[in-house]
Amino acid sequence: MPTWIRACATDEIDQEDLIRFDYAGATYAIYHSPEGEFFATAGKCTHEEVHLCDGLVMGHLIECPKHNGQFDYRTGEAKRAPVCVNLRTYSVKIDGAAVYIEVP
Ligand code: FES
Repeated sequence: MPTWIRACATDEIDQEDLIRFDYAGATYAIYHSPEGEFFATAGKCTHEEVHLCDGLVMGHLIECPKHNGQFDYRTGEAKRAPVCVNLRTYSVKIDGAAVYIEVP
C-alpha cells in the first residue's frame, strides 16, 4: 500500500539540484526545479545501477554521471542515449517546510 514518507526539508535541496533519499531498502532521488517545484524519481539510472545523486541537474534534466544519459525528472522520460528505459517517478507533496514522497 502506498505511503507518504518525509524525505527532507524544502531548504535541504538547492534549486536545480537533487539529493539521494534511501527508504526501506530502496533509493530515490528528490529534485528541486528551477521554478521551485519538487519531484521524485528512482535513485538509480536504468542503464546501469548508478546513483543519479552524483549526476548533474540541467533545467528539467538529470544527467547520469557514468555515461551521460539524460532523463526528464518530471516525467522520467529517457531523453538521451544510452538510456532507453524511462525512470520511475513518484508523487511529491509539500507539507509546511517538508517534502514528502509517495512510496509503494
Ligand atoms: S549508467 Fe547511466 S547512462 Fe549508463
